[in-house]
Amino acid sequence: MTAPRVSDHYRTAFVTGASTGLGRAFAEMLLNDGVRVWGTARDTSRLAPLAGFPGFTGVALDLRDGDHAEAIFHRAEESASGFDLVVNNAGYGVFGEFTATDFAMWREQVEVMLINTARLSHAALRGFHSRAAGSRKGALVNISSLAAEFPLPFQSAYNVVKAGLSALNESLMIEVAGSGIVILDVRPGDYRTDFEASVRRPSAGAATLRVGRAWAAFDKMMKSGPEPDHAAASVRRALLKGRSGTVRTGRFFQAVVAPFLARFGTLNLRRRIQAGYFDVN
Ligand SMILES: NC(=O)c1ccc[n+]([C@@H]2O[C@H](COP(=O)([O-])OP(=O)(O)OC[C@H]3O[C@@H](n4cnc5c(N)ncnc54)[C@H](OP(=O)(O)O)[C@@H]3O)[C@@H](O)[C@H]2O)c1
Repeated sequence: MTAPRVSDHYRTAFVTGASTGLGRAFAEMLLNDGVRVWGTARDTSRLAPLAGFPGFTGVALDLRDGDHAEAIFHRAEESASGFDLVVNNAGYGVFGEFTATDFAMWREQVEVMLINTARLSHAALRGFHSRAAGSRKGALVNISSLAAEFPLPFQSAYNVVKAGLSALNESLMIEVAGSGIVILDVRPGDYRTDFEASVRRPSAGAATLRVGRAWAAFDKMMKSGPEPDHAAASVRRALLKGRSGTVRTGRFFQAVVAPFLARFGTLNLRRRIQAGYFDVN
């Protein structure tokens, strides 16, 4: 008997933010499993590490422009004769106090990572719905974060984005039940990627001691996190199961212990523990 592969169920995939980190690991995992992948970056030269894989197509996409991003998605969808799998992964961080951050920068993060990700989810689901009935009509994999349940200090827009995205995923799971469409709400903990290096820090020059301590804790956790292929293996397992659901992934404490214990504490206790974890008491 041959080992199950993602391509047994899904033959084509669109993956945003495939140039580095988790997105690249998702793209590689799918390519290794025989899926044809259309992977995006703002500058396609950053996709060079994936170019050697047969079945990979690089796509230039910047999520800052929603109209453009949707048009690019449809163009790729046409060239693939439809996507079976859409992975909304692209994103970035902004680290700073709410009031020290330019509101335009705050708002842009919500537009790029929540509104325009919802827009691609909308386009993807319309494509899945238009297909003939079958056991697996398509899978939408939206990369949220454990920040959806444990908000990160001094990353307010990021927390809003991820809580909103997980709420969207939950809503969609209810809507698509019984349709053959799978929705995965993926919530990674800290992984060792380029994320931390690309975080914008609007108040870095004037950071308070608390902001500095929180950054040091964040920095330490990101640098000591698992490698991205660990998250790709979690997503692969979930895709092979073929059921909608939440995928918490990361080091055991963040992905298993903390969510389990959080069920039993009050919100106030949870806030105090979270503040201690980030040294901002
Ligand atoms: N690393 C973690 O610990 C962690 C934890 C929880 C959730 N996540 C989530 O996982 C996802 C990937 O993060 P990562 O850690 O892999 O970060 P990363 O290594 O910095 O990769 C981010 C990817 O997003 C793309 N991107 C950034 N801004 C974009 C924009 N405006 N339009 C289109 N693409 C853009 C980048 O492409 P370019 O080549 O164009 O720069 C890059 O491919 C994010 O949604 C993040 O919130 C990460």
